[in-house]
Amino acid sequence: MAEMSMNRVIHGAVRRDLGRFDSALAAFPEGDAKRAAQLGAAWRFFYEQLTRHHSDEHAIAWPPLQEVGVDPELLAKFDAEHDLTAAALASTNDAMKALERAPTADSVAAAASAVTTLRTVTNQHLDHEEAELEPVYAEKKDTPEIKAMGREFGKVSPKVGGNFFAWIQNGANDDEQAALRASVPGPVLAIIGGVFGRDYRRRIAPVWRTGA
Ligand SMILES: [Fe+2]
Repeated sequence: MAEMSMNRVIHGAVRRDLGRFDSALAAFPEGDAKRAAQLGAAWRFFYEQLTRHHSDEHAIAWPPLQEVGVDPELLAKFDAEHDLTAAALASTNDAMKALERAPTADSVAAAASAVTTLRTVTNQHLDHEEAELEPVYAEKKDTPEIKAMGREFGKVSPKVGGNFFAWIQNGANDDEQAALRASVPGPVLAIIGGVFGRDYRRRIAPVWRTGA
């Protein structure tokens, strides 16, 4: 198996969640306010993760990538794709809120349609980014610029880091787990992800184990 960047590991979690929303909405029991609230909680978590991933890429990843030779025009294209994703996220956010307010057949259909659009736009961007950046991350991973970038990404509170690690590990395949362990020291994963990832494991992971 070729090496995989942390970026691609995160993308794996994004793709899984979009698939989960798709399946959960297709199976949604009309009128079920409890299920709507569960999906609403999972949605808010996902919304925050994808929004942060893209804003952090712009602020933390683009400058060092440019320093190691990535064309700024390509990074500008990724920013434009991030904007398209943000617009689809905003529409889906409205649809998910409406679903929580009134879990009618119409709300479910509108949320499912918004998720389908979001999934299309997001997957196109993730595929494009991986095609262009995976070779760069693999080739340049030991440069001072990319190592410093990794440390910058690590500067988050334990709570944010813990829930993030719990999220990207939930449903990750063996290659993704191996790539994560190669990028993050075991004790950090065990302590931060183990202790501070409780909120994700208690509140969000179970949403995907019931009724979906
Ligand atoms: Fe991106």
